[in-house]
Amino acid sequence: MPYTDHYERDIYGIIAFWVRNNFDHGRFFDREISHYELELARTNQYMIQRLGSIWEKAKSKKTDVGILIDEAKHATREFHSLLTYTMDKALRCEVIISTPQSLLDHMIREAEETISVFKLIQSGKQVSPADATLHENHFWLRQMADHLRYISHYLDPSNHELHDRVREMTKKFDNLFLQANALTTMIRRPRNEVLPVLHSFNQMVIKEAKALEAFKLELDDLIKQCAAVTTSPPDLLEHISREAHHLWRNLEEQVIL
Ligand SMILES: [Fe+2]
Ligand SMILES: [Fe+2]
Repeated sequence: MPYTDHYERDIYGIIAFWVRNNFDHGRFFDREISHYELELARTNQYMIQRLGSIWEKAKSKKTDVGILIDEAKHATREFHSLLTYTMDKALRCEVIISTPQSLLDHMIREAEETISVFKLIQSGKQVSPADATLHENHFWLRQMADHLRYISHYLDPSNHELHDRVREMTKKFDNLFLQANALTTMIRRPRNEVLPVLHSFNQMVIKEAKALEAFKLELDDLIKQCAAVTTSPPDLLEHISREAHHLWRNLEEQVIL
């Protein structure tokens, strides 16, 4: 698991995680823009280059953190605008792309989460363990269920066994997401302690997110060896494995970052 071995939790590592996330989205989106949409393709290419260079800066750890976050926040906002503009066009059937609207929305939500994480870092505010884990569950469990749906979207229909397995896991993550929603309103603010129900829910999600990460990495190997019939971008599974890893790590550490 190469990404896990190099998963650094210092401030630069956190910035790198989020910037890389949006950089990857740009690269995945690039494959799905029709040649009729030259302007969109060019603007997206520009975003890929911009986010890629900020990711390099985050990895080299040489730029001042304050300057780096400002730059990352600015670029993410621009990318967010491009995605929301495209989403609006896609909903009106005015753009030729093969990306489903819900996948655009998925990327838009991650861009929004990126900006709030950067703002949280800049504010220096502390989030209580109960607030942090409820937030992480609420945000990421929907993303995890989405990932499984996109695995299905790209997998060729001939993979009957794999489709069954993915459907089963999707149901599980849909249920976990519903439970996270319920707990978010049941456990009211101020949330000064992690109640036993929340603790046991977190443990269940950690276990399931680890299993999901392992499954995604298993599929990642098959796709990279061209051994599964799929139209998935070659490193999409590694990307979504990293997000599953991010979820369980944050739940273990009881943080939003
Ligand atoms: Fe992502
Ligand atoms: Fe995602």
